[in-house]
Amino acid sequence: MYPSNSSSTPMGRRRFLAAAGGLGAGLLLAGCSTSATSPAAAGSSPLPLNRIGPGASEIAATEKARQAAGQRTVDVALDAMVGPVDIGGRTVSTWTYGGALPGKEIRVRAGDLLRAHVSNQLPQPTTVHWHGIALRNDMDGVPILTQPEIAPGASFDYQFTVPHPGTYMFHPHVGPQLDRGLYGALIVDDPAEPGGYDHELVVVFDDWLDGTGTTPDQQLADLKAHGMSGSGGMGGMAMAHSDLLGGDAGDVTYPYYLANGRTPTAPTSLRAKPGQRIRLRMINIGGDTAFRVGVPGTPMTITHTDGFPVIATRADAVLLGMGERVDAIITMPDTAVGLLGLAEGKNGISQVLLQPGNGRAPDVAAAAVALMARPAILVNAIPAAPAVQLTPRAPDITHQLALAGPGQGYTWTINGQTYSPDQGLPVHAGQRVRLAMSNTTTMFHPMHLHGHTFQVVAPSGVGPRKDTVNVLPGQTVTVEFDADNPGQWLTHCHNIYHGESGMMTVVSYLP
Ligand code: C2O
Ligand code: CU
Repeated sequence: MYPSNSSSTPMGRRRFLAAAGGLGAGLLLAGCSTSATSPAAAGSSPLPLNRIGPGASEIAATEKARQAAGQRTVDVALDAMVGPVDIGGRTVSTWTYGGALPGKEIRVRAGDLLRAHVSNQLPQPTTVHWHGIALRNDMDGVPILTQPEIAPGASFDYQFTVPHPGTYMFHPHVGPQLDRGLYGALIVDDPAEPGGYDHELVVVFDDWLDGTGTTPDQQLADLKAHGMSGSGGMGGMAMAHSDLLGGDAGDVTYPYYLANGRTPTAPTSLRAKPGQRIRLRMINIGGDTAFRVGVPGTPMTITHTDGFPVIATRADAVLLGMGERVDAIITMPDTAVGLLGLAEGKNGISQVLLQPGNGRAPDVAAAAVALMARPAILVNAIPAAPAVQLTPRAPDITHQLALAGPGQGYTWTINGQTYSPDQGLPVHAGQRVRLAMSNTTTMFHPMHLHGHTFQVVAPSGVGPRKDTVNVLPGQTVTVEFDADNPGQWLTHCHNIYHGESGMMTVVSYLP
């Protein structure tokens, strides 16, 4: 039996471990400041006033350099609005772009100018962030840091060149709004790509609670009020745990898990002929849930991580942290089966049905058991394809990021500090920057960097290019990137409840 969850109670717990984690972070920081072997900055520093902000001339100059002659313009409109959505077997009132869940996919070609007219019909201020895109800093959608919030009733025009092909997404960057229905896929086609597949399937996986008697704002308030308060044993609720994630699987349980906006019993489906090649573009927009993704009985070939190509790698199942994307190729099976997104450690299921026209799909719970019996991989060690590997070079600067929490009142910190737009990690244009992220907590953190695609430093040397990387409990994950996109860039945990509780800092370009 593979039951799905039926409550959405925050799991208050970890009092003891959290205290230990805080201590560990302190020790770690002390260690970093004395044992650095390359130019290193331990901790976040107050940022100087002359940092390269969103209005700096460097931003416009960088954008201009991206614009080729004859650039095509793509116009889209996003209406952020409140309204009912049918998630399959249930209608919920939620916040979406244009009334659709996910919002209508945006599709451009690499090099295009994307113009998005965003109209805010929500009762709260909002912004739109273009997750994974190396865009001009003033269009990045981070309140205060890169733009003022868009007030209720107001609108804002985003306009930027989209430089790299791949699978991306868009979502708000205000509070836990992305844990409502405000999201969509942003697909950037590569004019130079050979194709080599018959169909494409974009799948957005999500954990869902909005409009089911609670809201993300309420969840965040509950975590802040009770997350540390000794309610852990409440109702005997099991802690969400995952061996694959090496510890806690989440802080929130959800009543539903959705694939492309639908519950597993009323899924969307892809019709294709047996043997046809399907390109999967899989996106995790969950707030607090990693998804274990795969098709029982049908191995996939992973081709891209966070939009960038990797050495093709076979897997039965792959883990997607919040904010991560994986592209893979599968061969359409002979009989109907689900492309499953299993809520890791949470016993929840989502699926899109692969429908070759033969046979009925197996019971989804049985399919989940079959997938769970197969090994699942994390992508952190898969080498980037040679064409997108960073040129080998010693880092010019190394920043340590000590990830810790939760503290009193459910605070999550980087280098002992909760987020402030005036504190961060200084870099200079032209530098090779190394970030070493150490997780002293009992839960994984999918760490995301805005405006850049780093390369994970794998045991073998070259790891994948990514913008969001899972850092498991007790792990240090090191990434490197070239500082080639001036501005003020958020780096944060893509667990929306961690990020909004402080686990964010700024990679700050200084003159
Ligand atoms: Cu999708 Cu700041 O993130
Ligand atoms: Cu986190």
